[in-house]
Amino acid sequence: MMTDAAMPELLRIPHPNPVSEAERVARIADPGFGKTFTDHMVTIRYTEGQGWHDATLGPRGPLTLDPATAVLHYAQEIFEGLKGYRLGDGSMAMFRPDANARRFNASARRMAMPELPEALFIESCRALVDIDRDWFPSAEGGSLYLRPFMIATEAFLGVRPANEYLFMVIAASTGNYFKSGAPAVSLWVSEHYNRAGPGGTGAAKCGGNYAASLVPIAEAMQAGHDQVIFLDAKEHRWIEELGGMNVFFVFDDGTIQTPPLSDTILHGVTRDCLIALAREEGLTVREEPYAIDQWRDDARSGRLVESFACGTAAVVTPIGKVSAPEFSFVIGSGGPGQMTQKLKSRLIDIQRGVAPDTHGWVFPVG
Ligand code: COI
Repeated sequence: MMTDAAMPELLRIPHPNPVSEAERVARIADPGFGKTFTDHMVTIRYTEGQGWHDATLGPRGPLTLDPATAVLHYAQEIFEGLKGYRLGDGSMAMFRPDANARRFNASARRMAMPELPEALFIESCRALVDIDRDWFPSAEGGSLYLRPFMIATEAFLGVRPANEYLFMVIAASTGNYFKSGAPAVSLWVSEHYNRAGPGGTGAAKCGGNYAASLVPIAEAMQAGHDQVIFLDAKEHRWIEELGGMNVFFVFDDGTIQTPPLSDTILHGVTRDCLIALAREEGLTVREEPYAIDQWRDDARSGRLVESFACGTAAVVTPIGKVSAPEFSFVIGSGGPGQMTQKLKSRLIDIQRGVAPDTHGWVFPVG
């Protein structure tokens, strides 16, 4: 697919009638995850032969789509998730938007969609955080969650890559992803369903992968668990990831392990940060396959002392219990472990500007 490097300017149209201050303050007091939306959004259109055009930062509102719009039929869609934070000096910053921009383009290539210039992706996110900074929630652990995404907008029913697309960024005032409030989450091993197969779209951040995870997630929740854990499609033995989060294992010798990247695992930005931070602490991190039966045996013998899930939305979430039809095991004390807490604090301190950003991960919004 043609990549157009031309970068249109963002036209800024401030909302003429934004949510009142009193209403906004009430909404962001306890925003939940992904349901308290800000006043503005970014829209940029792509037309084959013309490239990216009509870039606007304007009032948030509904879309009008022809019923034949390609994304509605064949799910040609990709998205990202990243966060904006308020630093100690009151200024706003984004965390690693360049990494999200690169992954977005990797997803675009897999889904036969046009790539967006990285600078345009970053500027779209920056401008939205800037204009909607007052939506930053005061609650502990709060952030402005950004959702950049792209859909195929050409109206046609043939199965081929579309020639018109819409890129958008919306923002949500956001608290914790898991609403259970429990100190650690419990997981259900998906017995019948796989998230991804070799050669498929597992490494792309596309809506279809998440659609496929909904039945197993619902199954997990019906059985009283918070999330599902997926195994590989070939042997149904090797641990891959949760429904939207990567997974880490901590052993009694202080080493850490996480499944290696492949075309069936999402290349998580938080995963990448945690590997870097752990290695800086002098810890050994193995990116190697880990089997579900080994996880069970190691947890029972005490060789495995902690496990955690990670992602932009979930940040670092301790895993306390894992269940499958034939077995169930508790990890460590069933609550947050020391290493999990330490790595989480290291990450959050950098995100919030409390610890120095030696990696260039924090992007000032201005
Ligand atoms: C994120 O962590 O940003 C995701 O996109 C995953 C989803 C569970 C919200």
